[in-house]
Order: sequence, then structure tokens, then C-alpha cells
Amino acid sequence: MSTKDQVIIFDTTLRDGEQSPGASMTRDEKLRIAKQLEKMRVDVIEAGFAIASPGDFESIKAIANTVTESTICSLSRALDADIDRAGEALVGAASGRIHTFIATSPIHMKYKLQMTPEQVIEHAVHAVKRAHNLISDVEFSLEDASRSELDFMCRIIEKVIDAGARTINIPDTVGYAIPEEFGYTIGQLLQRIPNADKAIFSVHCHNDLGLAVANSLAAVTAGARQVECTINGLGERAGNASLEEFVMAIRTRKDLLGLQTNIDTTQIVPASRLVSSITGFPVQPNKAIVGANAFAHESGIHQDGVLKHRETYEIMTAQDVGWQTNRMVMGKHSGRNAFRSRLDELGTTFSSDAELNHAFARFKDLADKKHEIFDEDLIALVSDVRAADAYEKYKLSSLNVTSQTGEVPVAQVSLVVDGAEFKAESEGGGPVDAALKAIEEIVRSDSTLELYSVNAITSGTDSQGEVTVRLEKEGRIVNGMGSDIDIIIASAKAYVHALNLLDANIQKAHPQV
Ligand code: KIV
Ligand code: ZN
Repeated sequence: MSTKDQVIIFDTTLRDGEQSPGASMTRDEKLRIAKQLEKMRVDVIEAGFAIASPGDFESIKAIANTVTESTICSLSRALDADIDRAGEALVGAASGRIHTFIATSPIHMKYKLQMTPEQVIEHAVHAVKRAHNLISDVEFSLEDASRSELDFMCRIIEKVIDAGARTINIPDTVGYAIPEEFGYTIGQLLQRIPNADKAIFSVHCHNDLGLAVANSLAAVTAGARQVECTINGLGERAGNASLEEFVMAIRTRKDLLGLQTNIDTTQIVPASRLVSSITGFPVQPNKAIVGANAFAHESGIHQDGVLKHRETYEIMTAQDVGWQTNRMVMGKHSGRNAFRSRLDELGTTFSSDAELNHAFARFKDLADKKHEIFDEDLIALVSDVRAADAYEKYKLSSLNVTSQTGEVPVAQVSLVVDGAEFKAESEGGGPVDAALKAIEEIVRSDSTLELYSVNAITSGTDSQGEVTVRLEKEGRIVNGMGSDIDIIIASAKAYVHALNLLDANIQKAHPQV
């Protein structure tokens, strides 16, 4: 296949994905995901929005200084300060890109920007020129393109390509497009814009109507050659096009589409697990490609068919997308070096011996209780240790819960708050409820519990439980995560993690506000 049949995969899990309510990540967590994306051979990683916060800036910088095989990109509005900050964050990148954008739909220009179309063109051209002075690889996005006028898009795109933009991104910002219509728009832009051949056309589809992947496929059929997507379809509101679904559609239907990507598809499931464990967004069991049931055949007829000839009911194999990585990797006799090198292979390195020792102690503890330790256990364990180490305010010291038939469950908790130990006891509807109420007796956080979910990390009754707790306070939403072989302890850890995240109160600018 020639390069004209190659679709560039631009992953925005660390930027648009992080805009999912409660999905904010620390610098180290982002770095771990970026390394996994590099391993998966993602072409472009949008590492963040540099001006949003010092934390975002530092994350982009760390990723730019570490990842060498993927292009590292920072988002910026069409404002001088944003562009300069993006350029600064990308100084160390082997290959860097500034992605600047402005809204082009009548509704956004009139009400949000309060600018005339001519002013928007002026801003866009100025922004692209400024970015191009800092870096040769510049992407320009027309925010809310799917509700913008075709003639106006043609005018502005021609001008920004002349100003130096090498990628033109057409976002369906509000998830409004329908595949046929969206494909038509892309085709028209490519046909009508005289210098369209000087740029790669890209799409960025949101999933409000569940059509993000379908719209992205329609766009590449019409000639777009970059698709912006996220692991597990994470992103603002209903999320973005899911990387795994788009990539596997391209691969599975190569006969029809005649396209390819660079992605090493066997890294998809590990990436999905990592993102889920770091963000606290569980993957629904029936999610295509990465859901626990995606390759499970329940009905007898299907099972019989698959045993006779796999392709009767399977269009791809579980191994193609990396499910076989779910294997026993270690046990209680494994040593520190084996532990470190397996995590290295999984994309996790330790910043100090102390951190390694702490994680290894937790591993030994887990191996005592759980016979077989899988990659997923290791990933969850490291996320858990790092979450506990990252924040200082609250630490779970001990938990004792009694629960028996016919009796009201009671929990006694001991929590270290700013170095001082506090104890509390509470009853509850169930043991988890009692444990969380006991923590609240001490903290009195005034937050609202919006979501509580438990996921088994691997199969078997000795699987670790991975708990997500979503808390809301004064409009801020955080997701706390905790894992443990005992789901009541995992729940308490997740709750304490969420309380620490609320306490951290990280202020960030939102790119679209
Ligand atoms: O959805 C959107 O329009 C965006 C742009 C900033 C590319 O995320
Ligand atoms: Zn978006």
C-alpha cells in the first residue's frame, strides 16, 4: 500500500480525553499513558493544552522530552500567549506540533467569540503564522466545523494553508454530523480548496449521537488522512471516536476501505486497561474490542460454530487486539528484578528505589493472597501505590468491618489527616456503605457521591476488585480509584483517593471556554 492509503492516528486521550468530567491525570500518569501510546505506534500524541495549568505544561514537557517515536502536540487557542506557551512546552520534542484552533460556525462566532467572520480569518492566519515561526509542524482546527458554512470554511482553510498549516482538522465538536453528510463535506473541501493538496485533512468527531467512529470512517472514505481519537472513546461529554474501534474497522475491512494505520493492534487492550485504571473510567463489558465480553461467546450455537471454524462468528481474534496479554506473569516467589522488568515492559518505570520498594512490598502482599498475578494486577497495583503516594492530606490507616446475616454492618476506620490520626465508627446499609460513612464521619467533605462501581480486574473469585468513586463538590468532579483483593478496602481506598483529589483543587483553563 502507498502512503496515500495511510491514515495518521492522532491520539487525544491526554487532552480531549482528560476533558471528561473527573478524568484529570497527574504528570506521571500522563507519561505512563504516553509511553504506552508510543509503544502502540500512535503517530501523533496530543499531550495536553499547555496554557491550561502549570501541571499541563509540565506534562507536555516531560512527554516531549521522553517520547521519541511519536510526534508530540500541544493544543492552543488562536491567541499569542497560548501559542508561545505551547511552543515552550515542546522545545525538547524530537518531533513537535502546535495545534491551534478557532471556532468557525455562525453560532460560535456570534455568541461565543463575538467576532465577525473576517476577524476570525485574521485571527486564524495570525495564529498559524506565529505557530509556524516556532515550529514547522502546525495543525489548524475549525472548531464546530460541522455547523459551519462550507464557503466560509473554504475561504479560511485556503488562507491558513498559505500561512503554513500542514494539517487541517475538521471537528464535529458537538457530535452533530451524520456520516453521509460529513463525508460529503470532507469531499467538497478537498475538491474546492485550490491548495488542499498542500495539507493533510483530519477529522475529530465527538460521540453525542454515537456516530463518532462512523463519521470518522465516512471522512477517510472521502479523503481525510488523519483521525483524532481516544482510548476507550474517552473525551468531552459523550467522548470522542474510539481509537480501538476505528483502527480495527480499518484493519478488518481493508478489503472495502483499502486503508491502513501504523498501529500495533496487540497493544490496544493493554492501553485500554491502563487508561481505565488511571482515569477511573471502567470499560463496559459489551464495549467493542476492549470490553470483557467482546470475544466471549455465550450461546451454544455460537460456541459450537467457533469451535468448528473460528470465522463463523469472529471477524478478528482476541490476540489481534492484545487479549492474550492476560496471562500469569508472576507469583509469590518472583523477585524484585523480575517485578521491575515486567513493569518496564508494561511501560512503567520507577522514579526511585523507594518507590520501587514500596510497590514491591505491595506486590508481595498481594502475591500472598492471590495465587496468580496478571499484568492487569500489576498495572492496578502501581496505579494504587502512586495514588496513595501522590497526595498527602488523607491516608487510610486501617479499616475493620463486621458484616453478618441479620446484623447491621459496622465499620471502624482510622484515617491520618495531615499527619494526625483520627478514628470513627459507623453503621451502614452494607459493609461498603458503613466504611464510607465512617470516613465521612472524620472528613465531612460536603461532597456528593455521583458514582460507585466495582470491576473485577481479572477472572476468578480471588480477583482484585477495582473500585471507582466519583465525587462532586461545588461543580468539581473527581474520580477516585482503589484496588484490593478485598473490595471493601478497595472502596475505602477509592473514596480516600477521591477526597485527596478534591482537596488538591487543581485549577485549569478549559480550551473551549
Ligand atoms: O472538539 C473540538 O472541536 C476540539 C478542538 C479543540 C479540536 O476538541
Ligand atoms: Zn474535541
